[in-house]
Amino acid sequence: MFTRIDHVGIAVPDLDASIAWYESTFDLRMVSREFNEEQGIEEAMMLVFDGPTGGSHVQLLRPTRDDSPIGKFLANGGRGVHHVAYGVEDAAATLTEIGGKGIRVIDSSPRHGAMGSSIGFLHPKDTGGVLIEVVQAAARP
Ligand code: CO
Repeated sequence: MFTRIDHVGIAVPDLDASIAWYESTFDLRMVSREFNEEQGIEEAMMLVFDGPTGGSHVQLLRPTRDDSPIGKFLANGGRGVHHVAYGVEDAAATLTEIGGKGIRVIDSSPRHGAMGSSIGFLHPKDTGGVLIEVVQAAARP
């Protein structure tokens, strides 16, 4: 079902400082930086490994508003790891398959993610407390 760990999502209060820290400490390269107003975030993808089915990244997430999920996470004292995202071939089919196993899916159909990807989240109450995301990378040219 999963082809890779696509990214680990990390909530940060200062995106510029976190990008600089991951670049200087681990030599990671930023491959995208974008706003997602639907999710209330500005995010940066830091490439760890580029594989045949897509890359593995650290996803740095800064809230653009306090009432967004990441904004609430930070406001409630959260810091650091927020979710784990697994790569899949077909996000819609995977969400349907997982939902069929009795696990609640937050997104019954995929929504827009970074770098043209399609993403969906599973409910942490049904996944041992871990917020899990599935990611179908955009088709490569
Ligand atoms: Co993510």
